[in-house]
Amino acid sequence: MKVLLIGGGGREHALGWKIMQSPLVDELVSAPGNPGLAKLGRCVPVDGEDVPALMALAEKERPGLVVIGPEVPLAAGLADQLRAQNIAVFGPSAKAAQLEGSKAFTKEFCARHAIPTAAYKVVKTPEEAEAFLQTLTAPYVLKADGLAAGKGVVIADTMAEAVLAARDMLSGQFGTASQTLVIEEFMHGVEASFFALSDGKTVMPLIAVQDHKRAFDRDQGPNTGGMGAFSPVTHMDAVMTKRVMDEIIMPTVSGMQAEGHPFCGILFAGLMIGPTGPRLIEYNVRFGDPECQVLMMRLQSDLVPLLLACATGDLDALAPPVWTDAACATVIMAAKGYPGAYEKNLPLTLPAETGQGRNIQIFQAGTALDEAGHLVSAGGRVLAVTALAPTLKEAVGAAYQEIDRIDFAGGFYRRDIGIKVSS
Ligand code: AMP
Ligand code: GLY
Repeated sequence: MKVLLIGGGGREHALGWKIMQSPLVDELVSAPGNPGLAKLGRCVPVDGEDVPALMALAEKERPGLVVIGPEVPLAAGLADQLRAQNIAVFGPSAKAAQLEGSKAFTKEFCARHAIPTAAYKVVKTPEEAEAFLQTLTAPYVLKADGLAAGKGVVIADTMAEAVLAARDMLSGQFGTASQTLVIEEFMHGVEASFFALSDGKTVMPLIAVQDHKRAFDRDQGPNTGGMGAFSPVTHMDAVMTKRVMDEIIMPTVSGMQAEGHPFCGILFAGLMIGPTGPRLIEYNVRFGDPECQVLMMRLQSDLVPLLLACATGDLDALAPPVWTDAACATVIMAAKGYPGAYEKNLPLTLPAETGQGRNIQIFQAGTALDEAGHLVSAGGRVLAVTALAPTLKEAVGAAYQEIDRIDFAGGFYRRDIGIKVSS
């Protein structure tokens, strides 16, 4: 079978790596892909957000399955258009993708289905914002309603900062995404990213992964797309996982089905585990990046039948996937300046062979080849150095050892991924 993979980040490199291990797959086409994916198959220079061009590509290639990595083409209806052409696709419809595309939609959906989450109000004017902020205690959480590449959340320590942030956001700080805001109660607890597959009816729980959102060590600096991740997550034990499934994931899938927008794809729940149990911070409708790199390394089963079953509605026929007990850690190497302005075309040299064979993978994200064929940086997050080992401490150690073998003078990385938990 031929698989068409949409996207070109570290998440997609990890998906492509796992997809190509499937005996069902003999060809991988990535749009636009990256130099890492180019080693696994063919990359075509089609923008992963250009829905008409992606449709033309899919109709030409007629793949057995399309796997959509990022959220933007999902929100733009790529999965709907592929389904209309009878092309099997892993990824939700535009309506179901509102779970990520509109924070106001999700909060209202949670209220309708009694899914635990922070108290909130949807506001459109600074006056409404201020009135609701006055009912809360610090710190204050303000979110752009629409997609803002993971950057549309402001946590303000004082009322003055919060009021100012609301004004800035409503006057277009995140473009149209912040014309509507969701203001929320601040939730205390520990976070986890939890993943579950669904074909719209049946739900298959996967596992939890812990992300590191802040740019610098000890959770300092601005929020990023994620600077590193690890699994397993000790606070997501079997009891907590069952609560998350019963209280959050199952009501979501049945609620979306009942409302006429069945969710087919991967549901990524950002969770806060607090004194009352799990509460939803937000949903994403795609694999996390870099959480996906960790999931793919720990997954022992063939990924492709799982993705296909979500596309065809046959998830109830599949056995739950098998995971290794080994721990996995991934450390992001980013270009200096990320998540703010950063340079591109920075030289980059990877070791000829990774240190420990299949237990170490360097997934490529923002990379490109220059005219001479040398690897250079081409984005903010550049590499995801990922290691699998019997314990988290060893996995973290192995990832950092591999980083020492990479020459990327223009890059930086956090030195404390998984350290709080593993030491
Ligand atoms: P989001 O993009 O909604 O996941 O928010 C980004 C980050 O902001 C989360 O990972 C949390 O660390 C933090 N955050 C968002 N909403 C809340 C909340 N209501 N209470 C506490 N922290 C939050
Ligand atoms: N790492 C968080 C995300 O993919 O949104």
